[in-house]
Order: sequence, then C-alpha cells, then structure tokens
Amino acid sequence: MSSAENPLRDTAAIVTGATSGLGRAVATRLASAQAHVALLARSERDLQTAADEVQSHGVRALPMKADLADTASLGELVNRAASELGPPSVLVNAAGTDVPGSAEELSLEDWDRVVAVNLTAPFVLARAAMPHMRKRGAGLIVNISSVAGRRGWANASAYCSTKFALTGLSQSLAAEGRGYGIRVCVLYPGAMSTSWGTFDPAQRRASTGQSSDDRESLNPAVVADLIAWMATAPGEPVLNEVTMTPLREGGWP
Ligand SMILES: NC(=O)c1ccc[n+]([C@@H]2O[C@H](COP(=O)([O-])OP(=O)(O)OC[C@H]3O[C@@H](n4cnc5c(N)ncnc54)[C@H](OP(=O)(O)O)[C@@H]3O)[C@@H](O)[C@H]2O)c1
Repeated sequence: MSSAENPLRDTAAIVTGATSGLGRAVATRLASAQAHVALLARSERDLQTAADEVQSHGVRALPMKADLADTASLGELVNRAASELGPPSVLVNAAGTDVPGSAEELSLEDWDRVVAVNLTAPFVLARAAMPHMRKRGAGLIVNISSVAGRRGWANASAYCSTKFALTGLSQSLAAEGRGYGIRVCVLYPGAMSTSWGTFDPAQRRASTGQSSDDRESLNPAVVADLIAWMATAPGEPVLNEVTMTPLREGGWP
C-alpha cells in the first residue's frame, strides 16, 4: 500500500491496554501498517516487550506506564505522545478491568475503580486526543466495550454498567467529532482468547490466554485487523458500532 493509500503511514496511534490481549494485538497491527504507537499500561516490563514488538515493524514506539485509574494524569500523556510521535490519528481504548462479584458484595471503592479504568479514562483520553485530531482534520477513536455492554449479567454490575456507558460516550463523541473528520466506533467483542480475568500483570505472564477452538473465542488479532481496516478505510464510511463474536458465543445474542 502506498503512503497515499495508507493514511496510517507515519502517523501516531495511542493504544491502552497495549501489553496484552486485544490492546497488544492492535498496537502490533497498527505498527505493521506503519503507524508509530504510544502504548499505555501498568506493567513496565510488559510495556517494553510490546514496544520492542512494535519497533520491529520499523516504526517508533513510546511505552507509557500509567494506571488508568489515576485519571488526572492521562491528558498529559496524550500531549506527550503528540509531541514525541506526532498528533494522534487513532486512539484505541482497549484497557479494561473488572471486580467480579454480586452487587451486594461490591465495595464502593471497587465500583469507583472499574468506572475510572473502563469509562472515565476513555473519556479523558478522548477529550485530550480530539483537539489534535481536529487540527489534523481526521481521526479515529475506538472504544472497546463488550457484549456485556449490550446485555447485563450477574456478578458484573460495575463491568456491565461501564460497558453500556461507553455506548453513550461513543455516540456523543461521534456527534461532536464528525464535523471535524473524527470517526468514533464502539466495538462489542464477544469472548476473545486473551488473559482476560487475570487483572495482575505477573499472573497474566504465567497464563497462556489461548483457546484451542476459535469458534468459541475470537483470536484478538482478528479484532485488531478490523480496527486496522477502519483506520485505513477512506474517510467517508463510519462503522459506528460493531458486535463481533465467535460463532459459538454464549453471551450473545
Ligand atoms: N477477553 C474477552 O473475552 C473480552 C470480551 C469482551 C470484551 N473484552 C474487553 O476487551 C478489552 C481488552 O481485554 P483483553 O481481553 O485484551 O484483556 P487482557 O489480556 O487482560 O488485557 C488487559 C489490558 O489492560 C491493561 N490494564 C488493565 N488494568 C489497567 C489499568 N488500571 N491501567 C492501565 N492498564 C490497565 C493491562 O495491562 P497492565 O496489566 O500491564 O496494566 C492489559 O494490557 C477490555 O476492555 C475488555 O473489557 C474482552
């Protein structure tokens, strides 16, 4: 693909949750399409590994250690990424967390943490990225929800609430951004073969995150391919919402 046909070439992407699972697959896939990538996650060690993978595609990587629950510092990270890699063309909010348990068991502290990581952080990052995208006259924001953002289930009240709320956030951002060439998509994946459910970087390293049957869980690389397609597609069509599940998804429909 020539640089005229590939709008990602030599632009900057920001990907949260870039050390594992979907976020890592997206960071690598966008790098393979010649975007420079700022990677956000908590684990310094895993960030370095993911950054090395990004750089192996001949682009620049900017690993940025951040706990997304600390939402006050996130806007500065976007501005740092913009000054080191260039104004972002793509923001993918892939990081997510959960504190499983019934609503009766869930502490307010745990509720607040899930809300901060899954909802407030995507808002703060989008708010900081949009002025840069507006100046570019183009941009793509992808908020990773879940089929749990379309149907609530037991023992996941905070998780489901935040994933539902990403729909409202995405629609508002899309309405505000479209006049400036900014496209916003909320993506609802079904089960993916990742380390989801571990939530601790050290434990995650010990798990395989693999499924033997891709009819029962999606390979995150397939979801990443879709995001890369959105980022390289001509500016007019917009995938506002996408539900992508494995053939034998239990949670949807
Ligand atoms: N896997 C599934 O079946 C599935 C299905 C539907 C939707 N999803 C959604 O897909 C997204 C990606 O999940 P995944 O399956 O790829 O999970 P994963 O393999 O566990 O990866 C989660 C990523 O989020 C980062 N992260 C978690 N808490 C963070 C925090 N407080 N601050 C910064 N980064 C944080 C992790 O990095 P560190 O630990 O280094 O911080 C890691 O890079 C999530 O939003 C999830 O809700 C997953």
